[in-house]
Amino acid sequence: MTTITLENITKRYDNGFEAVKNLSLRLESGTFTVLLGPSGCGKTTTLRMIAGLETISSGDLFFGEERMNDAPPKDRDIGMVFQNYALYPHLTVFENIAFPLRLRREAKASLEERVRAAAEAVELTALLGNKPKQLSGGQRQRVALARAIVRKPRVFLFDEPLSNLDAQLRVQMRSEITRIQRMVGATSVYVTHDQSEAMTMADTIVVLNNGELQQTGTPHHIYTNPQNRFVASFVGSPAINFFEGEIRGEAGRLSFYEFGSSTTFSLPAQAFVNPPANFPRKATLAIRPEHLGFTPFLGASLSPEALQYTLSGTIQRVEFLGHERLVYVETSPQAPHKIIRCTNIAQILEVGGDIQFFASPDHCYLFDSNGARL
Ligand SMILES: Nc1ncnc2c1ncn2[C@@H]1O[C@H](COP(=O)(O)OP(=O)(O)OP(=O)(O)O)[C@@H](O)[C@H]1O
Ligand SMILES: [Mg+2]
Repeated sequence: MTTITLENITKRYDNGFEAVKNLSLRLESGTFTVLLGPSGCGKTTTLRMIAGLETISSGDLFFGEERMNDAPPKDRDIGMVFQNYALYPHLTVFENIAFPLRLRREAKASLEERVRAAAEAVELTALLGNKPKQLSGGQRQRVALARAIVRKPRVFLFDEPLSNLDAQLRVQMRSEITRIQRMVGATSVYVTHDQSEAMTMADTIVVLNNGELQQTGTPHHIYTNPQNRFVASFVGSPAINFFEGEIRGEAGRLSFYEFGSSTTFSLPAQAFVNPPANFPRKATLAIRPEHLGFTPFLGASLSPEALQYTLSGTIQRVEFLGHERLVYVETSPQAPHKIIRCTNIAQILEVGGDIQFFASPDHCYLFDSNGARL
């Protein structure tokens, strides 16, 4: 176990492209950190710099107090698991797991013991004699995991290790990986662009975009306190609803007017974390689908002030997901549709029907035109 510290790390590839820009992070010893962001945002590059597979253009990498920039990969004490498990097809499961120990010329008795312990941890004991082609995708992934843990490394690095598995197995392997990580205690960095993986597995989520750090925090913090428009839009499924418009100051009150519709909200002070000074100003108001609700279901619990958050529109589409329905509502042809998450099975929802719905004012976020939280 070790803390991992990145200080102002930049990666400039040979063609001059900056894939990671001035990234600073501190990953506490034994924790599970997920790097989350869209394709091309620099996740793999960051992971490869930690592993020593990619040089660091500027900045410093520390494991504990030790500067690691120039340490060769084999001296970093890292176990890695990739998307394409990279198993040796001609070797048995036993030999695949044993491979890192053979490289280190581990004595036979302890090698045997450690391979068996690793296989047991991932529930592969019965398959130690099989070749990779005799295994399912999930079993192969487990071999890769066992091979990563067999040396008891102080750091685990995972690069989208579940993306080749089917949906059910992916969900099962999430909890397998976190269980094994807790057991081994290695400081872990896990790369994914799948937000549900990030939300379910992470102690800390690091959101990246265009090589730049957007926000770090617990899954709960990232979801409930997005620091900017990008984080609000990237985290949450279905995606958060955006109202594009402007904030106006009138008669001592602040109000939000959506462009292209008649939607108007009065803005209570608690809607702001960084209240701006000048009005009118263009802004985006964001509300998650679970914070829009139909009358009178949610409206019943709202204060008179909150009732100003009434909207009306036409149902365009209803998606049935079993435990809930997602309702797409058009409030105006000029404004983007809004998605409402409806868990009330009694609510009648017909495409083409006109409805009224409410926003919950305690759960709206405002963003400036540059994307910063207001
Ligand atoms: N060797 C290279 N030379 C130049 N640019 C590169 C090189 N490797 C990667 N890049 C660029 O750096 C950026 C970050 O790449 P990286 O592989 O880190 O993205 P990622 O976040 O892992 O994406 P994905 O989710 O698609 O795996 C991309 O725009 C990519 O095109
Ligand atoms: Mg990648």
